Amino acid sequence: MSPSPSVASHYAREGELTARILSALTAAGKDLDRLTAGDIAPYDQFHSRGHQATEELAALLSPQAGQRVLDLGCGIGGPARWLASERGCQVVGLDLTEVYCRTARELSTRVRLEKQTRFVCANALHLPFASASFDLVWTQHAAMNIADKARLYREVSRVLKPGGRFGLYDVMAGEAGAPHFPVPWSSAPEWSHLMHPAAVREAILATGLKERHWRDLTAEAKAWSEKAVASQQASRSLSGPALILGPGFIEMIANLRRSLFEDRITIVQAVFDKAG
Ligand SMILES: C[S@@+](CC[C@H](N)C(=O)[O-])C[C@H]1O[C@@H](n2cnc3c(N)ncnc32)[C@H](O)[C@@H]1O
Repeated sequence: MSPSPSVASHYAREGELTARILSALTAAGKDLDRLTAGDIAPYDQFHSRGHQATEELAALLSPQAGQRVLDLGCGIGGPARWLASERGCQVVGLDLTEVYCRTARELSTRVRLEKQTRFVCANALHLPFASASFDLVWTQHAAMNIADKARLYREVSRVLKPGGRFGLYDVMAGEAGAPHFPVPWSSAPEWSHLMHPAAVREAILATGLKERHWRDLTAEAKAWSEKAVASQQASRSLSGPALILGPGFIEMIANLRRSLFEDRITIVQAVFDKAG
């Protein structure tokens, strides 16, 4: 089943997103003519545990300079820029939400990474790429909007080169029932498709990929969430996801925290290999 266009309309908010991010950077004292990918990093990581989660997943995947990486559900391109600037990869980010792809391109141009990062507006269930065209496929906090996980992981496996690697960092279903809505990935239950970790693992293994690493990071996400609340109260500056989602974010993040602490969601990091 294709995701509803409402997934994209949940993410696309009123107002000019690049301008909001640039004005937050100006307020933080950054010179807009000399921006680096690192300057934008506090605002462009749209997943729990922010930048740290991106660095951890990269450490597990060992991306090498010049490798072709596909980031599925890339948002505004923060992880793609990190992989390009810190690891020298050639990254294609793919996202359903047009305004995020446009923002991702504008931000990459600002930090002179437009040649190493390319952004494609498309559906992860219908990848517009030839088979065996990427060394690594990467996804963070996007699969929860996608009902047809079997097809998603078949597409991942198809576009990976033999010997390639797939890394995910995702929100999955918890033991205590559905999350409270709205959450940052969905205003309502019909666009949220959380699956239990065992079923996700089974869907990935069914494609022929082999498991290399699987770790439940729910406890770490809870600890990070506590720290994030304290530092948010102290600094008063907006986090990246708050800037991206606008005023509704306050209710979404409160529901996300409640769902996390009530064990209605699970956070998992995993890596799978494609046979060489
Ligand atoms: C919470 S954001 C995460 C963005 C990015 N991965 C990050 O961590 O910074 C989820 C993203 O998944 C995208 N998405 C959801 N369903 C998708 C689909 N079927 N195909 C492509 N992108 C999708 C949304 O548009 C959104 O940008």
